[in-house]
Amino acid sequence: MRAVVTGGARGIGAVVADRLAADGFEVVTLDLDGAGGSVPCDIGDPVQVRGAAETVGPVDVLVNNAGIWRFAALEDVSPEDFDAVMRTNVAGAFHCIQAFGTPMLARGGGAIVNMISIAAPLADPGVGAYSASKAALLALTRQVAVEWGPRGVRCNAVGPGLVPTPGTSFYDDPEVRRVRADAVPLRRLGTPNDIADVVSFLVSPQSAYVTGQAIYVDGGVSQTLMELLPKPGGRTWAPAAGSGPS
Ligand SMILES: NC(=O)c1ccc[n+]([C@@H]2O[C@H](COP(=O)([O-])OP(=O)(O)OC[C@H]3O[C@@H](n4cnc5c(N)ncnc54)[C@H](O)[C@@H]3O)[C@@H](O)[C@H]2O)c1
Repeated sequence: MRAVVTGGARGIGAVVADRLAADGFEVVTLDLDGAGGSVPCDIGDPVQVRGAAETVGPVDVLVNNAGIWRFAALEDVSPEDFDAVMRTNVAGAFHCIQAFGTPMLARGGGAIVNMISIAAPLADPGVGAYSASKAALLALTRQVAVEWGPRGVRCNAVGPGLVPTPGTSFYDDPEVRRVRADAVPLRRLGTPNDIADVVSFLVSPQSAYVTGQAIYVDGGVSQTLMELLPKPGGRTWAPAAGSGPS
């Protein structure tokens, strides 16, 4: 069995690639400039993606992990940054689905996992086009599941919460990390291994009847809205106390 992981040179993608290799896959990674021994490929360029697909050959698994973000208030997002985020996060995944997924149809099966984010279902203020791009990738996940399910190809999404990686070094401040971890019901940030465990499940026979789904691997943080709202009598839930309503 063969797998391809985009953005596999570092961060979550590198750990996912190692995990799939440990699961027994022959793994190829794609990344910009061939970083980290990857096949060089800018997934935003369909010509490069088609070339990479020819180089790599048929695969059973595609993990669309490569993604980028640009911080800006909505009114300040430049057209260039908007295009860059949509180009990699949406068009890039689309090109890979076409180039690596279409041959799966002829082979009668395969599994695709798209790396979204908790920013797909939730507004993420200050990150420009990122939420919109991940919501689009979630919609694409569902479309692939419905169109290609009858031909044996499953497609699911994994949505990480905050996972420290080279790409999130802007969260390196220990105090910022502590505050972010305290907001998570499981009281810690995610690790690339947390994400890789779920990707591993979603490309395995154990998830043979799972398609068109999004699994949020975020320690529960995406479920905490109600904890912020006042309860009757003006009380709020007090996560810091950890013992119940205050
Ligand atoms: N780390 C987090 O907190 C977090 C949270 C939610 C979602 N995610 C998603 O997980 C994925 C991986 O995130 P990460 O934190 O490991 O990022 P990262 O920046 O550490 O690594 C991303 C990798 O993708 C590659 N890449 C970027 N653009 C590319 C392109 N056009 N073509 C090929 N490769 C490209 C980069 O070179 C890099 O090696 C992304 O899709 C990201 O949106 C991450």
